[in-house]
Amino acid sequence: MSEFEEVLAETIRIMCTPGRGILAADESVGTIGKRFDLINVENTEENRRCYRDYLFTTPNFGKYISGVILYEEQVFQKTSKGVLFPEIIRQSGAVAGWKSDTGLRPLGGYDKDTVTQGLDNLAVRCQKVFKAGCRFTKFRSAFHINAKCPSSLSVSWNAMVQARQAKIAQENGLVPIVEPEVLVSTIEDPLDIEDAYRVTKWVLTETFRQLNLHKVDLRYMILKPNMIYTQKALKEKKYDLIAEKTFQLFTETLPTSLPGIFFLSGGQDELSSTINLDKINKIKNISQKICPWYISFSYGRALQRSALEAWKGKPENKENLQKAFTKRALKNSQASVGEYVN
Ligand code: 13P
Repeated sequence: MSEFEEVLAETIRIMCTPGRGILAADESVGTIGKRFDLINVENTEENRRCYRDYLFTTPNFGKYISGVILYEEQVFQKTSKGVLFPEIIRQSGAVAGWKSDTGLRPLGGYDKDTVTQGLDNLAVRCQKVFKAGCRFTKFRSAFHINAKCPSSLSVSWNAMVQARQAKIAQENGLVPIVEPEVLVSTIEDPLDIEDAYRVTKWVLTETFRQLNLHKVDLRYMILKPNMIYTQKALKEKKYDLIAEKTFQLFTETLPTSLPGIFFLSGGQDELSSTINLDKINKIKNISQKICPWYISFSYGRALQRSALEAWKGKPENKENLQKAFTKRALKNSQASVGEYVN
């Protein structure tokens, strides 16, 4: 393959170590502002830097975390001791990555469908963050489910964009995280978990068709999918059903050369996202089917909610923030091998 094959293989090896997962800390300036609003913290550059500094310098950070997704601003920010974030992450034993997409835009004429931006100049942008110490990218597309969405155009166009960005990332030494998120938590009656299953299967099938067509090396990429659920199923604590449906979909759809599947939390509460991951891995551990993938977490909100609440923007709460974060990271670490202890 490319001159970067060894680099890509090493990054995959680190990211997929059993018992570890990814911290998605790549909230854009606007999105982190929404999280800060909930705890009455002003959305300044220093507050954003300080919060991430506390997270990334948590004692034993790399024990449960194998990768951190950063937003562009953070790639070049430093800890209070002057160490660049990608470097402090590397020192912990994890690897830094970067959100390479530049957001969603409406797919005009197609109801709530969107298309992801970020292909422009992508090779040059990848080279810049590689030099800064990043070793993977994350690119998110999103699909609403209703009577009109997603359209065939949205599914095929987004799959093509995903495949192209993944190829460019690999050509520049970065492992691509392909994140085609079906927004299952917003499904409304009469659509149900079968519709979540059907649409996610369609999206994943088309995404892998395009990844193959674009000659993306599946051994050096990560899939970041949604689980198969609805808000109703979550409320009714149908964790076994959610795990069965999600695992079944993977065995029907995903290639065995794919090394890792790291879920987004998609707004599930912290506990549900841990229980669901644990149950999926418990099924995997006893399955007779061929399922070689490492299945773990790449959570944003589900790893940070209680940490943010413990912090409240106050320096004296640094230790509480780190304790709250470590607790969620530990529980998800257990779930990533199907050994969650309540
Ligand atoms: P959530 O876990 O909060 O859904 O975020 C994950 C993510 O990276 C979305 O792109």
